[in-house]
Amino acid sequence: MERGELLYSGKAKSIYRTSDKRQLLMEFRDDTSAFDGRKTEALSRKGKVNNYFNAFIMESLEDAGINTHFDSLVGDTQSLVKNLDMIPVECVVRNITTGSICRRLGVEENIELETPTFEFFLKNDELHDPMINEYHIRSFGWAEDEEIKKMTAYTLKTNAILSPLFRKAGIILVDFKLEFGRFNGDIVLGDEFTPDGCRLWDSETREKLDKDRFRQNLGDVVESYEIAASRLGVSIPD
Ligand code: TMP
Ligand code: ASP
Repeated sequence: MERGELLYSGKAKSIYRTSDKRQLLMEFRDDTSAFDGRKTEALSRKGKVNNYFNAFIMESLEDAGINTHFDSLVGDTQSLVKNLDMIPVECVVRNITTGSICRRLGVEENIELETPTFEFFLKNDELHDPMINEYHIRSFGWAEDEEIKKMTAYTLKTNAILSPLFRKAGIILVDFKLEFGRFNGDIVLGDEFTPDGCRLWDSETREKLDKDRFRQNLGDVVESYEIAASRLGVSIPD
């Protein structure tokens, strides 16, 4: 697959056109960012680890009936994906309290929620991704009612699929963020699922195996991503 013009460069990924306008090349870079881009660093091997991690999760979700944009791995840091019309909202599910929900609601960390909770955020770094609700999404025309229902249902279903998958690997899926887009009139999971966009804790020790290691300067960021990958059975070439 020939790499075409650079279409978009985000904080950690670059998106290129291909000869087929219905497909894009997604490149995972080593660049790592937190706090809406205020803390950044290039971490060796992260692009490669995230590319293989994402492929494994997207294929697992496809097998379990979630439509994703993932097509195939085409290199160590690149994957071929469907060209979605992205919806500018982030869908977050939480199983255990930590992060922004503790600050926003003044609740303690580490509460195991009675049932997973779901939140929408507007994808806007300058505004620090403010929390929004489905009325905002409808009123501003970011997505239609049916699309909102699908994003919610698919995100909760993703949690139901992935929580046991991680549990079997000795990992707690604490929370995660998904982004969706439109393709052929349907709502399809886009973006990525990697330790950059979720929280993963060792089931026994509660050691963090995700981007909180970078946010909190805990060190061994990529090494921890690789531990999570290897426990899931994802093999990553040297
Ligand atoms: P939060 O606790 O900061 O709201 O994040 C909840 C989860 O969503 C956490 O796993 C990180 C992920 N997330 C992102 O990856 N990017 C984002 O912009 C946001 C708001 C959350
Ligand atoms: N939104 C992502 C995070 O908070 C990346 C960033 O903010 O730069 O981890």
